[in-house]
Amino acid sequence: MVYNNRISKLKTQMSNMKKLVIAGNWKSNKTIDEAQNWLRQFNLQPNTKIILCPAFIHLQLFRWFIDTNKCPFELGAQDVSRFPSGAYTGEVNAHMLKGLVEWVMVGHSERRAHLQETDAILAQKVARVKEAGLKVLFCVEDEKSVIPSGVEIVAYEPVWAIGTGKSDTPENANMVTSAIKAKTQASLVLYGGSVKPENVASFVTQPAIDGVLVGGASLDPEQFKELISSCSQIS
Ligand code: PGA
Repeated sequence: MVYNNRISKLKTQMSNMKKLVIAGNWKSNKTIDEAQNWLRQFNLQPNTKIILCPAFIHLQLFRWFIDTNKCPFELGAQDVSRFPSGAYTGEVNAHMLKGLVEWVMVGHSERRAHLQETDAILAQKVARVKEAGLKVLFCVEDEKSVIPSGVEIVAYEPVWAIGTGKSDTPENANMVTSAIKAKTQASLVLYGGSVKPENVASFVTQPAIDGVLVGGASLDPEQFKELISSCSQIS
């Protein structure tokens, strides 16, 4: 009863009905066996848009799983080469990702910090993804970050909130996402940083926030399903 009241209150807080986006970023995690186990447990018919972003080595398995089971999920790579096809050993370029994924994540703060990805490099990556006809989920630290034109989704992820268990306040996240919307053509802006089943509703009920980018809580299928169903009840 109390729970139902809370849900209906959250519903009325929504300024307009929106189809939420929930993106799962597995980062550098899981063996092939672990990925298969996760997929076996991830039986879900959500009414939110789900974008799954496992590591490169899992993309083919995910494509096969989604196509075979006609799952309503979209697939994203976590990175892409800034180079075209050619003599770039070890690189996975945007052309190679065609037919495999719909989305490519660019600009995650971990890549900016550990792989020294600069604004110039990120702009090159976005250009390669657009040339290949794929869509970009572009991550930024705040509303001052440079956002290349042509990206479809922006994710606001304060660095201090990533993987720390300390999320931004929903009100501040709403202000930053509004400011991002004012300066970019991206139609959707997500919040990311320590999003869990317990706090996801407080973010997605903010008027400017169109969904969430989830790291740690996407690794456990039960936790990720719980998080998605919290959103399904309010979208
Ligand atoms: P987190 O990561 O949910 O584990 O904080 C979010 C992200 O880095 O995309």
